[in-house]
Amino acid sequence: VTGNAWRPDDRRFLFVTGKGGVGKTTVCAAMASALAARDKRVLIAMCQAKERISTMFGSSAVGADIVPVGKNVWAVNIQPEHALEEYGSMILKIRALYSTVFQNRYVRSFFRAVPGLYDWSMLGKAWYHTTEVDREGRPRFDVVLLDAPATGHGLDMLRVPKVILEVVPPGILRRDAEKAWETFRDARRTSIVVVTIPEELPTSETLDLTRAIRNELGLDVGALVINRTLERLFSAEEQAALERATSSPDAREPGDQALVAGARRAVRERVQIENLARLDGVKTLERIVLPELYEEVASPTAVHRLAARF
Ligand SMILES: Nc1ncnc2c1ncn2[C@@H]1O[C@H](COP(=O)(O)OP(=O)(O)O)[C@@H](O)[C@H]1O
Ligand SMILES: [Mg+2]
Repeated sequence: VTGNAWRPDDRRFLFVTGKGGVGKTTVCAAMASALAARDKRVLIAMCQAKERISTMFGSSAVGADIVPVGKNVWAVNIQPEHALEEYGSMILKIRALYSTVFQNRYVRSFFRAVPGLYDWSMLGKAWYHTTEVDREGRPRFDVVLLDAPATGHGLDMLRVPKVILEVVPPGILRRDAEKAWETFRDARRTSIVVVTIPEELPTSETLDLTRAIRNELGLDVGALVINRTLERLFSAEEQAALERATSSPDAREPGDQALVAGARRAVRERVQIENLARLDGVKTLERIVLPELYEEVASPTAVHRLAARF
């Protein structure tokens, strides 16, 4: 952490997005682990994922019901159909009534007609868990972390409450969307966390994504997490020399493997420097840099190591 402007501890809801494969789930696990170590009760909500959170915490598998995965950490793998059923029965209070009503084709087609309803079932459920309190009135979870879908889909998901406010007539669905949107717009309660790696395409996607979050949704990005950064081994001169040495056609002598490996590394370091400079243009409260790990990342030890950065 480079400053104290932003800490995950101070938010009720963290929406974690970014390009596919950059490390969103890994970052969720690391943040949850950091928060839990500081005595926060954390829920990690996944969206219909091939879940690997259980591997990261060394727990048993995580399904559509909330289960503990470690001290102070719970997880759920939200399934839209299941979440909708839960939501429907919550709205109608009585499950028996719900099942007869839900079999009604008219009601089914009404639900289908709501744009983004599947996304809402996941986002809305995650948001709902930020509102739950125990008998003493204390929050059930201090922080809810949504391991959100990748870039474009993540944006679509965040847009849904606004869309509901525009097209759905007054009622419970609209009222919840209104309350959720209020929570998301409040930077003291919600942070969007964008995860990326310092490479060409992920950086371009990150620049577009953060612009869209700001301009289209009018929301701030709380933190930018730059994952998988390499320790710098070569100076700019050494990088250039290595790249030159391996780019000439007669450089492939036997025994040159070390040179080729060095040149590959030099290219990655140069690309990283270029893209870190591009990422400097992203306005966020905080920027967190995580190292490339050379061990099994989906493991409690790796998660613990990365947690230290939060
Ligand atoms: N800091 C890191 N160092 C090395 N490998 C990483 C790191 N972070 C993530 N990975 C690997 O990258 C892959 C994608 O990570 P994951 O967290 O599943 O990304 P996402 O949720 O964005 O798809 C996984 O195989 C993971 O182990
Ligand atoms: Mg993931």
